[in-house]
Amino acid sequence: MKKSDIIIKIKDDHLDRYGTSPELVAVAPGRVNIIGEHTDYNDGFAMPIAINKYVFVSISLNSDYTLNAYSDEMKSKISVSINDITASESWHQYIIGAVNEIFKNYSIHHGIDISIYSNLLVGKGISSSAALEVALVNGILNLFNVNETDEKIIEICQKIDHEYVGIKSGILDQSASQLSKKNKILKIDFSKKSFIYIDLNFSDCSWVLIDSSIKRELASSKYHERVQECNKGLSLISKFLGEKIHFGDISADKLSILTDSDPISSNRIQHVIEENQRVIDMELAIGGNNLKKMGELLISSHNSLKDLYEVSCKEIDYLISISSDLEYWYGGRIMGGGFGGNTINLVKRGKEDEYFKFIKERYKNKFNLKANMYNIEFSNGVEIIR
Ligand code: GLA
Repeated sequence: MKKSDIIIKIKDDHLDRYGTSPELVAVAPGRVNIIGEHTDYNDGFAMPIAINKYVFVSISLNSDYTLNAYSDEMKSKISVSINDITASESWHQYIIGAVNEIFKNYSIHHGIDISIYSNLLVGKGISSSAALEVALVNGILNLFNVNETDEKIIEICQKIDHEYVGIKSGILDQSASQLSKKNKILKIDFSKKSFIYIDLNFSDCSWVLIDSSIKRELASSKYHERVQECNKGLSLISKFLGEKIHFGDISADKLSILTDSDPISSNRIQHVIEENQRVIDMELAIGGNNLKKMGELLISSHNSLKDLYEVSCKEIDYLISISSDLEYWYGGRIMGGGFGGNTINLVKRGKEDEYFKFIKERYKNKFNLKANMYNIEFSNGVEIIR
């Protein structure tokens, strides 16, 4: 269904469900990440961009001090008094978190009705949960005419993840959903919480997303393990040097402090340092229209995520390794948190279907699994439709 048709549908369904038309629909996109993986919570750099798959949240006011929400995807609803907002199912945490944080911070106390629709598949590494947070927070703030900065909105979204959902994620996904501009890649510096837009005007290549259909089941526990390993490595280096060190201060010689004492943390941090450099190099390669170099950077990012950060899996490694013989495939890598999900690939324009056919058959024969290709386009960040 087209975006405009989904907006009509969600408005009609909202009216049927609650007896009132929504005041607004907040539409927040998912994202891809060109490069810069597992760098956001390590004060590094990344290059995400929003895609044309969205979470839609329609909202209206009610006068009975109740928070009602219905998720079309979950086919499930929540209805609680706003004087006692608690959650029972896990997806409720996103709603509870957004409403609690906004009501608390902006002294709002009002019943609201929410409907949620999504064409962003959950658990595929394209950030459906961040898009839900961004849609909810922007939508509720807008409903109560609160003007807030992008930075604060992203901070509230991250707080929902950390304090309600229980995932200690960085702000890569929320930043992309909030800040993206169509056909501009974001380059984010997470240590400074600053960003720039980079033009992406290639007519001779396409970004192709392949879904491995491997569910990212280990994603949250292993994600936390990686966060801890990086922090542990950083504090060991700080302790050894007798001063507080930040990720950006770690050079190869400082990293060598960890080589014997904690090789795992050493590997993790080595990935972060090198991945940050790859983001810088990618900006140059994009500026110079150097597709070959862009492809090489994607491949070396993949190898690092596989060998140093250890967040890949055999199925995704296979997808990347069989692609490397194709002359029209510049490069690709595992994308997102890891342990399954998608690969992002840079392919010669016009060769997308041929590439998918090639992948699909071999993948099926090898693992008896179905690979899917997403036809993505880049998109603007969140928008509010009144
Ligand atoms: C997940 C997290 C992000 C980021 C990526 C890895 O998508 O939500 O914050 O850490 O993994 O780059």
